[in-house]
Amino acid sequence: ISCVNEARAEDLSQKTVVVIDVLRATSTMLTALANGCHEVVPVETVLQAKSLQTEGTLLGGERFCKKIPGFDLGNSPLEYKSYQVAGKTVIITTTNGTRAIQKASKANHIVIGSMLNAKACAERMAQLDNEIAILCAGTQDLFSLEDGLCAGLIADELLRHLQAASGSPAQVSFNDFGLAMLNAYREVQHQLTDTLLSCANGKRLTKLGFKDDVLYCAQVNTLAIAPQVIGGKLEAIPAC
Ligand code: MLT
Repeated sequence: ISCVNEARAEDLSQKTVVVIDVLRATSTMLTALANGCHEVVPVETVLQAKSLQTEGTLLGGERFCKKIPGFDLGNSPLEYKSYQVAGKTVIITTTNGTRAIQKASKANHIVIGSMLNAKACAERMAQLDNEIAILCAGTQDLFSLEDGLCAGLIADELLRHLQAASGSPAQVSFNDFGLAMLNAYREVQHQLTDTLLSCANGKRLTKLGFKDDVLYCAQVNTLAIAPQVIGGKLEAIPAC
């Protein structure tokens, strides 16, 4: 398993790539799908999003963490309630998360991950049986702690899953960044909420009035879906 920051994304072709943007893009996409949204279409620009808008689609996303003028929804997972999204297509553009998904476009499989679906994500990774890269979206080309910790959490879930399946400790090789994130996650696993509130994006979102989003995104394994990007769209695929 290699863990990579978005700015340093190497060749991701032939791999299963798990894309993570805990605060908040992938947590929001997962929430939309768990609440019955038909599909999520991630795009890079506001113009692209607007050009895909048709009757019955919703436009969602942010710039500078705020809802884009004229859009139906922002990037808060708490906005993506069933009554808003059930049965709908959501076209979403965010600053870093949707860009990371585009970066992974050459991968064999793209799985969308966050803390909310770490276990489901690990189970899907084991099932797809490719070389794995965990792609941390980060923020404007810089590393974001919450994404790294989530990579460590997903790796930990994968090791647990493989061990349960085989009955013996799993033999998985990690790159140095992956190993560091696995150990960092294990160090703070019982203080995830406080850690997310104290990291740069957690503080920024709290200052902007989105503390509840940070608390929501810090929850572990509340969603049993592991969506994959197929033909540029995410559909909810239940965990195996
Ligand atoms: C992003 O994609 O950059 C983030 O999800 C930003 C945000 O939290 O709104």
